[in-house]
Amino acid sequence: MKEIFERRSIRKYTDAPVSDTDIEKLLRAGMQAPSAVNQQPWEFAVLKDKDLMLKVLDFHPYSTPLKTAACAIVVCMKQPLNAMLEPYRMQDCAAATQNILLEATHLGLGTVWMGVYPDETRVNGVRELIQAPAEITPFCIIAVGHPAEQPAPADRYDESRVHINQW
Ligand SMILES: Cc1cc2nc3c(=O)[nH]c(=O)nc-3n(C[C@H](O)[C@H](O)[C@H](O)COP(=O)(O)O)c2cc1C
Repeated sequence: MKEIFERRSIRKYTDAPVSDTDIEKLLRAGMQAPSAVNQQPWEFAVLKDKDLMLKVLDFHPYSTPLKTAACAIVVCMKQPLNAMLEPYRMQDCAAATQNILLEATHLGLGTVWMGVYPDETRVNGVRELIQAPAEITPFCIIAVGHPAEQPAPADRYDESRVHINQW
């Protein structure tokens, strides 16, 4: 699948807006992800307000891509159905995040995954920013926009990392 190999983090974007149709496509891709016992433990907050987006820079040191991004998607973890599922919701939300990145590449959009969880300052900062209830834990922020840079695809295949049957 070419999108897997072409996707790179984009940290500079043009002024072009991202349509609501494309935003919905990204969210559909996210919600299509696999999840443990199909609990789908995610919620998504779409940030379109520039002032709100820029406030992230106050508590997240690596969020400068939000300066030029057209919008951002905050992927959030919901309270698990039971304690046993708690560690799985991170994996579920990571799968949803990667789906969004790949769909964006398919649509010609640029993205960068900005880690939030488990950094407490970032988790609390985002929760307050989007006024999310206590049972919601922000997982990451995805900056979205039309790319203003084109990093070359990176070939990361490394045969020495592959172990057949046993180490
Ligand atoms: C869990 C996670 C957290 C990340 N956090 C940030 C971040 O806070 N800011 C940022 O600019 N990039 C962030 N990245 C993007 C990585 O730096 C990037 O994926 C990595 O350098 C590989 O480059 P590529 O995405 O272009 O293939 C994060 C990626 C992951 C998976």
